[in-house]
Order: sequence, then structure tokens, then C-alpha cells
Amino acid sequence: MVTFMSRPFRVPTRVVMAPGCIGRLPEVIAGYAPERVLMVTDPGIEETGWPERIWKALAEREIETITFDDVEPNPRASTVDRLAGWGREEGISLVLGIGGGSVLDAAKAAAMLIPNGGSTVQYEGRNRYETEPLPFIAVPTTCGTGSEVTWVSVLTDEERQAKISVKGETMYPAWALVDCEVLRTLPGHLVAWTGADALTHAVEAFTCRLANPISDALASTAVSLLFRYLRRAAADVAGDAEAREAVMRASTLAGLAFGNADVAAVHCLSETLGGRWDVPHGLANAVLLAPVTRFNLPASARKLAHLESVLPPGSRSGADGVLQAIEELVRDLGVPAFRELGISPEDYPWIAERAVQNGSNPSNVREMGVGEYLEVLGSL
Ligand SMILES: [Fe+2]
Repeated sequence: MVTFMSRPFRVPTRVVMAPGCIGRLPEVIAGYAPERVLMVTDPGIEETGWPERIWKALAEREIETITFDDVEPNPRASTVDRLAGWGREEGISLVLGIGGGSVLDAAKAAAMLIPNGGSTVQYEGRNRYETEPLPFIAVPTTCGTGSEVTWVSVLTDEERQAKISVKGETMYPAWALVDCEVLRTLPGHLVAWTGADALTHAVEAFTCRLANPISDALASTAVSLLFRYLRRAAADVAGDAEAREAVMRASTLAGLAFGNADVAAVHCLSETLGGRWDVPHGLANAVLLAPVTRFNLPASARKLAHLESVLPPGSRSGADGVLQAIEELVRDLGVPAFRELGISPEDYPWIAERAVQNGSNPSNVREMGVGEYLEVLGSL
């Protein structure tokens, strides 16, 4: 178990976590006295009526809001370019993101790009911009992203068929309003997939080489909540208030954990699949989490065994018990097998090479080269 940390743990975001807290948005936004607000969302969220309600509430305070609802899953860097260009033309001074990880990542990058100009891909890496981003307020509407409490935006560079990360010390959302009530309308399979993303964040944060005592505490609580409540939430998120609140809480705790530790090999693979085949991020992680955790076991068993205390009653002991609990949860969520994603084995060498190049690859607890990734892919 890691008992020290040399890097500071950072969460500059003001996090509110309560049912109904989305109602505080107008008050929070008004505190910035913005000239104009850019609300970023997607068509699915538009249908819930939340953006319209927020638009009206802001209008009552004489705050003008324009809405962009054209963010696709695995958001493209070119979409952020378009979004930021429009925001700049319209004189935007605050960005609000209401949606899943795709929406929040696109909105977060736009808040940086609007005052900095140019195109998103120029800013790949960390702290590559000069001008402070616009204030960005995040309202997650899935139980998986964690983007509401991290400094990173993960985007698809279509030309390179790859995911890129754009991050910076001042790209953290200014506020995160984490309201489980917005999960009520999320379809069951998306609760399952995004919840599996949260579980992946927690397991990878807990076992990776950058794990630290604070991320461990957050990650183990998130794993505990997801083991207990994710099945219930996926089965009836609208009717089960306890499960709804628990998985939403777990998602943000897992985001805080990986945001201050890292993700690892599961994400190196899932981001590769998302960048080229557009596989939804949560689904890719759900499919890969158990096999990669099994592969990592020779290097992770001692650490993973510390999660034994959060296992459901009757589980096997030690790291094997944790792995078994992950496998059973993924199976119960009805996650399809990797083969069903339609990716040809001929592409495995390309996938393995790209996974090795991912910035989080060195964080994986077990050394992963092309050969190791091919071994994982071959086992699927
Ligand atoms: Fe993720």
C-alpha cells in the first residue's frame, strides 16, 4: 500500500453533490456576471427539458444564453474548433456543459480555446495555452465521466484516428453540480456502461503507479458503492433513489481519484478503440476491465487485495475475489463480448502499438509493451 505522496492532490473545483442541486445553476452562473453564456449539451439531454429550463431561469436574471447541442460521442477536435469559433463570435464569457463525458470534455476544451484561438490539436499536451480559460461549469448527466472534477479533455483527432488529451492547471471546471436526479432519464444500458467507466476509473486509479493515499480512499469508496448499487441503478435508475444517488456519487469520487492518480491500460486500449472505431467509451471500458485486471494480477495482486474489505458478503478472499466480483458485475450488466464490437484480429497489432503510445501507459501497474497488449487482445 502506498503511504506517501510527492505530488500535491488538487481539486480547485467547487463540488456540490446533492439531489436537486442543478437548481442552483442560475445563482452560480450569476455570480460570474457573464455577458453571454454558451451552454453545451447534446440532443438526448435537450429532450429531457433541462437545457430549456436553465435557459429560462438565466433569462429571468437577464443572462443571455446560446446553446450548442451538436456534440457527438467520442467528440472530435474539429467539433471543439467549431464550438469555440462560434463562442468567440458571440462574445461568450462563460461556458456551461450539461451532459456526459463527451459534452463535458468538448465544453471544457472550448472554454480554453475561445480566448486562446487557433485549433484544438495545437494544444495537445499540458499547459500549452497562454490565456486563462473562460470559467467553465460542469453538470454531469451520466454516472461515469468524472470530467466534472478533472483538468483534462479527451478528444478525437480525426486525421490521426487517435485520441488526444488537452489539459491544463486552469482547465478544471470552476464548479461541478453533481445532481443524481438528472440520471432519471438515462437509459439502463447507458447507466451500465458509464457506471462501468466509473468502476474502471476507480480500479485503475487504485492499482496504477501514481496511486496515493487520497486517491486510494476515494477509489475504494467508489468501488464499494458500484459493487453494491450499479446493478440496481442499471435495472431501475428512475425508481431506485438510493442506487441513483450512490452511483452518481461513485462516479465523481472515481473522477477525483483518477484525476489525481491516473488511468492505465484499460483506458489505453479503450481510447484507441474510440479514436478509430468510435466505440462508446463506457462500453469499451466495460468490455476490457475484467480481462486487463486479470492480466495485471501478477503485478497488482497485493494492492488489489486491499479492496477485499469492500466486496459484497460471500465473495472469495484476496485479489482473486476482487477480480471475480468485477467479472460478475460486468456479466450481470449484460456487457457484450469484445468480439461483438466487430474489430478484426488483423487490427490487433495497430491497436497494441497505439495503446503503448498512450500517455497513461507508463502508469499501468504491469509493464505493457506491444507484446503484452497483444496477449490481452488475444485472450478476448
Ligand atoms: Fe474513462
